Amino acid sequence: MASRFRIRVNGRAHTVRAEPDTPLLYVLTNDLELKGPRFGCGLAQCGSCSVLIDGVERRSCVTPIATVENAEITTLEGLTRWFAAKRGLSAVPDLHPVQQAMLDEQAPQCGYCYNGMIIKAAELLEQNGDPSDAEIRAAMNGHLCRCGTYPRIVNAIKRAAQTMRASPEDRE
Ligand code: FES
Ligand code: FES
Repeated sequence: MASRFRIRVNGRAHTVRAEPDTPLLYVLTNDLELKGPRFGCGLAQCGSCSVLIDGVERRSCVTPIATVENAEITTLEGLTRWFAAKRGLSAVPDLHPVQQAMLDEQAPQCGYCYNGMIIKAAELLEQNGDPSDAEIRAAMNGHLCRCGTYPRIVNAIKRAAQTMRASPEDRE
């Protein structure tokens, strides 16, 4: 039976009606009309649906809506806001350093996998500011790119890490 759930997405509270086991992905895309999380496999195998839940990357395609009621959910649309809050920046940047680096490295081809890749890379760089190639590959291992852009993804994450290390936190 459908129930009401209060969820918090990208800093805003929403009330939605859904079956308790409805995947969070469906609520984000169908009810809230967010385009960041994307349906790929629906089986937690590809990472295209990734979001941050309380700062941890999770696969929204297999996350029941009933399990995230009191969590802070961040989709690609809210990533810069999350980043600015986490780093104590005085202004929200237009792009997360990972997004800028993906552009600078001309990393995407079709781009379908990239929303999830960016979410995962952003999580990684909050945990490890100077990851090795092996650490990047290990972190990104569960994210599939059918276009095979993996070497450019690694280069972009290294570039983003460098940018983030060079940018002091801006606490005011
Ligand atoms: S759609 Fe969720 S992991 Fe593939
Ligand atoms: S860029 Fe096409 S699936 Fe990754």
